[in-house]
Amino acid sequence: MTNETYTLNNADGSTSLELPVKKGTLGPDVLDIGKLYREQGVFTYDPGFVATASCESDITFIDGDKGVLLYRGYPVEQLAANSSFIEVAYLLLYGELPTATQLAAFDNSIRTHTMLNEGMLRFFNGFRYDAHPMAMISAVVGSMSAYYHDTMDVNNPEHREIFAHRIIAKLPTIAAAAHKLNVGQPFIYPQNDLGYTENMLRMFFAVPAEPYEINPVAAQALDLLFILHADHEQNCSTSTVRMAGSSGANPYSAIAAGIAALWGPAHGGANEAVLRMLTQIGSAKNIPEYVAKAKDKDDPFRLMGFGHRVYKNFDPRATIIRKMCHKVLDQMGGKDAPLFELALELEQVALKDPYFIEKNLYPNVDFYSGIIYRALGIPTSMFTGMFAIGRTVGWVSHWQEMITEPGRRIARPRQLYTGAPERNYIAVADRK
Ligand code: CMC
Repeated sequence: MTNETYTLNNADGSTSLELPVKKGTLGPDVLDIGKLYREQGVFTYDPGFVATASCESDITFIDGDKGVLLYRGYPVEQLAANSSFIEVAYLLLYGELPTATQLAAFDNSIRTHTMLNEGMLRFFNGFRYDAHPMAMISAVVGSMSAYYHDTMDVNNPEHREIFAHRIIAKLPTIAAAAHKLNVGQPFIYPQNDLGYTENMLRMFFAVPAEPYEINPVAAQALDLLFILHADHEQNCSTSTVRMAGSSGANPYSAIAAGIAALWGPAHGGANEAVLRMLTQIGSAKNIPEYVAKAKDKDDPFRLMGFGHRVYKNFDPRATIIRKMCHKVLDQMGGKDAPLFELALELEQVALKDPYFIEKNLYPNVDFYSGIIYRALGIPTSMFTGMFAIGRTVGWVSHWQEMITEPGRRIARPRQLYTGAPERNYIAVADRK
């Protein structure tokens, strides 16, 4: 807290209220309204948290006007070009880039936690063959608290550490098990001499009847997507994880809540929605019709993969992914090239349209990610599951930060009540 205060004036210029100002390392100042209700008897009103900082955080910074995204201070472009997902996971979790020894130890720990308890694996026999992967992933992650109840004390640093490594390591295995159920193939156990993304590709696509060769471009693309999805400060699912965890609930339940929040089409579900939208548009000649629908206030259709609560210039992740799209499609996605062409065309049309210009609507991370997933052979219904794998490390980092915050309090917003005023109960016989 600084000694600075921010003064809200009455319309006649007389001083009405002074609020303490908090300053971060970067980004706008924050007015501390914690005592507002006690001292003034009023709440603040900000549906959707458009102008509300819900916590202090050291993890990720976004400047939406400049298109800047920093993980622990490092620009995402630099991490995308030079780092690996496992190294970025370490950075997000522990705050610093690892030394070679630290990285090797972390990588080894993640590799040795990839297997699922066989009982957990049997859950997949109970799901319908065509269950949505996100339904299975959130259910199975929630069920982890039934397996690790002896290491879930949120106040125990060793328990928190083992939880973090377990959940990061097991998410690809859980997603792969969901995929294998959907496609009617046998589950493939992890092979821990493989790296994180290579192991995931093998668990997804290998079959016992044939040898499986990992395509290095596929592994590189997936690793990049995981880096770009790893964290995004107080987004909907991360805020959900923090909120669920703030009650002291076990961390597996908090992450399961985050996965459920991610599934929505306004959040992580958008990558799936983009692919469906592009397929629906079908050809460049139909673009004007869909752009018109997106602009029509009476039509619920929105251009999926466009717009962002924070980015009002461009989403730096979309720029990086667009480049990777070219590489992947050149190498392995010939049949998906027309879809990519259509996406590029749609982007151009929208970027020139006054509606999208005025509202600062640009392609977001999800606009191109689905095209890469599809070229890799990942089914559309699994796209949000891929987002969840990358984002798990962000959720865990935020959960750790929240749970270890001195003076942590349960998240408990207030409301503007607009329901009936107090009234007396009427016996059923007397009701009209
Ligand atoms: N297509 C058409 N119009 C749009 C779109 C869109 N994709 N996005 C926003 N608008 C309009 C919206 O109708 C509103 O117009 P008006 O001011 O006339 O009412 C204006 O732009 C502001 O939109 P908003 O919904 O108030 O903005 P928000 O910050 O609440 O929502 C958003 C952000 C991402 C949910 C929204 O842009 C959207 O629904 N986009 C499509 C879904 C999508 O791609 N989601 C992925 C987000 S990135 C991945 C992630 O982090 O989850």
